[in-house]
Parts: sequence; C-alpha cells; structure tokens
Amino acid sequence: MSKALEGVRVLDMTHVQSGPSATQILAWLGADVIKVEALTGDITRKQLRDIPDVDSLYFTMLNCNKRSVTLNMKSAEGKKIFTELVRKSDVMVENFGPGAVDRMGFTWDLLQELNPGLIYASIKGFGDGPYTHYKAYEVVAQAMGGSMSTTGFEDGPPVATGAQIGDSGTGIHAVAGILAALVQRGQTGKGQRVTVAMQHAVLNLCRVKLRDQQRLAHGPLAEYPNKEFSNEVPRSGNASGGGQPGWAVKCKPGGPNDYIYVIVQPPGWAPISALIGRPELTDDPEWATPEARLNKLDKMFQLIEEWSINYDKWDVLAKLNAHNIPCGPILSTEELIEDSSLVENDMIVTVDHPERGAFTTVGCPIKLSDSPVAVETSPLLGEHNEDVYVRELGIAPDRFAELQKNGVI
Ligand code: COA
Repeated sequence: MSKALEGVRVLDMTHVQSGPSATQILAWLGADVIKVEALTGDITRKQLRDIPDVDSLYFTMLNCNKRSVTLNMKSAEGKKIFTELVRKSDVMVENFGPGAVDRMGFTWDLLQELNPGLIYASIKGFGDGPYTHYKAYEVVAQAMGGSMSTTGFEDGPPVATGAQIGDSGTGIHAVAGILAALVQRGQTGKGQRVTVAMQHAVLNLCRVKLRDQQRLAHGPLAEYPNKEFSNEVPRSGNASGGGQPGWAVKCKPGGPNDYIYVIVQPPGWAPISALIGRPELTDDPEWATPEARLNKLDKMFQLIEEWSINYDKWDVLAKLNAHNIPCGPILSTEELIEDSSLVENDMIVTVDHPERGAFTTVGCPIKLSDSPVAVETSPLLGEHNEDVYVRELGIAPDRFAELQKNGVI
C-alpha cells in the first residue's frame, strides 16, 4: 500500500528530541527522511546509554524509519554536498541553537535560491523578541509557556509534567506546519518558512489556563479546589480544569499509582451516590445539583475515596464504567509497557536494532486508513552514506573514499 507522504524527501537536520520527534512522524507517514549528522552524531546517541557502545534508547526511540548520513557542515566540501541535498529535497527541518544554520552559510535567502520549492522548518525556544537568541530545553519551555506555574499543588513549588509538551509537543506543531506548507506548495509551487517556538507550543497547550486568567477578573474560580485567589491562576492539584469536576481518588492497596481519576458529570451523581452507599444524597438538595456540590467538591471526592479505597483501580474502573462514568486509573510506566491493548493498537511496538537487539518503543498515534505505519529501526550513524552519496547523488566511489578520508562525511 502507498504512504501518505511517499515521494516527499526530508532533509533532517534535527537533534535531541523536539525536531527528531517531528521528523519521525513524517517518516511514519511515508516521507524519506535523511538525517544529516555531524561526524560525532546526534548527541543523544550517547546520552543516557543503558548498554555500552550502543545507540541509546533516547536516540532509537526518536529516530525510527529514518536514514542517516554524516556530513561535516563546517567544511567547504560538506557545504557543496549539502547544496546538492537541498536541491533534491522537499522539506528541511532543523532545531539547532539560534543562528546555527545561518552560521553554516545557509540563510533562508540562499536556500530559497537553491530550491524555490523547499519548505524550511525550524524549531527554536522562542519567537522574535527578548529571548530570540536563547537556547531552550523541555522544562525551560514548560517554565515559560504557562505549564509549570499551573502544575502542582497550591502549597508546593512549580512542577514539570512528565509529558514532553515542550519537545514532542512542539514537534507535533511543526508537523502540522510542514504538512500545511506541503498542501499550499501543491497550489503555488512555492516552498515557505515554517517556524515553531517551544514557548508558543506550550502556551497553546495551556490555552485553558489563559481562559481562567481572564475569568479571574469576574471573581474566584469556583471549580478550583483553592480557597483563596490572587490575580493569577493558581496551581490546582488534580482539579480537572474543565467544566466537570474531577479528582484522583485512592484505591486498594494504596501504592503510589493506586489511584483512579474520576469525573462527576451531572448524570453521574445518581449512580455514584448509589455505588458509594449514600443513595440518600442523590436527591438531597445539598448534593443533588452541580451547583450545590460546587462548594464541597473536596468532601464529594472524599466520600468517593472512602468507597474506592476498598477496591483496586481496575475494579473501580469497571464499576464506574458500568454506569458510563468517565474515569481513568493512573497507569504506571510498567503497566503501560505491558498493556496488551496498547500492543494490539501498535502503540507499544518491538523493533529489532542491529546492535542492541530488540527494543520497545512507542508507535505512531496518528492512524491513517490508507497509509499504514510499520515501525522500523533507527539508523546507525552514517549507515546510508553510500546509498545517498554514491547511488543517489552520483558521487564517484573514489571521491566518496576521499571524502571519508578527509573527514567530510
Ligand atoms: N557539521 C558540523 N557542525 C554541525 C553539524 C554538522 N553536521 N550539525 C551541527 N553542527 C554544529 C552547529 O553548526 C553548531 O555550531 P555553532 O554553534 O558553532 O554554530 C552546533 O553544532 C550545534 O549547536 P547547538 O544546536 O546550539 O547545540 P547545543 O548542544 O549547544 O544546544 C540546544 C542544544 C537543544 C539547547 C539547542 O540546539 C537549541 O536551543 N535548539 C533549539 C530549541 C530546541 O529544539 N530545544 C529542544 C531540544 S530537545
């Protein structure tokens, strides 16, 4: 079967997580992604290694289905070869520190001149302004995009979320921009610049907190568990953040992830009050409506927890879902990696790597009916040098050997 992005060639100048997460999705959607690496390779090949001298899981889990070539972009020969690659590519993606590609000599003006159809995507920490020249990592973006100030409990410090919203979250935004630019190129024939800042992507994901910031002008946020409000949105623990209250309640046997997140929609109250053994609360005017419950959400979830603590989270999941009550057990990483339904959905995938053997990774969450994804191993450093340089760019074998000897590739 064909793939959605078949025929699209991506020059992948990305490293670490944000950029590689984007180009991995493009590869899964069918693009030919050529990762161009310095002779030392993407730094993550060697970071957090679990097996000596073998590409780390950090690298293998973010670079599946790509090809790898090495190229010294600081050498004159390297720049010449890169020029040829640009001419033959549809998309170029990079996430170096600010100005790095310009310093390599490839400004947007030059890239456009070399290939007017090129879509050139960059991920940076920040947009134009006071932070433009600053480098950024995941939690820096969480700090400056609204996530950390709104995550955690009221009486504790700001907290980073485990979801990599700054890196992989930005990667997804970049994918959206690249795909849109490919569609527009189909109409105009012209490429364009796509830029995504990590701070902007996190802010986009914190949209509802900016909603609440403005609601504060009209009084306290009644659905928050907090008792006092200043002029900024407080950290609100596990409050749902939406129009329907929710909280994580404890289950048996009381381990760190023996919790279930329960949402109490208006029609859920009657079955919940019956399940927890308090059927008289169903019609009690003090409890019967969402408005009546609003000033005692802590008490409501305490009542639910006094019931849930008697069952394990899977029992509670079944009991609540029997009444169509939205809820979710807190799943540990161990539970996730062993979850058979995620395996059946190709979301937990085992891949064979030539050096490390089989490893487990997270599959593609975007499912297209006419463009199936087969997750394949990440490339070894420079594994495709000969493929790309000799067979596809037409570099003669003796020049290829010379380039290797001179540290160009
Ligand atoms: N050949 C020769 N040199 C190469 C090369 C190649 N193929 N590929 C990269 N380099 C060089 C670059 O030219 C640059 O050198 P320069 O600074 O002398 O111009 C250097 O390698 C890369 O620099 P940089 O990207 O700043 O690396 P870093 O390790 O200092 O910083 C980040 C890492 C992530 C902080 C930085 O890349 C960054 O802020 N990126 C944008 C935001 C981002 O994506 N962050 C999230 C990462 S998960």
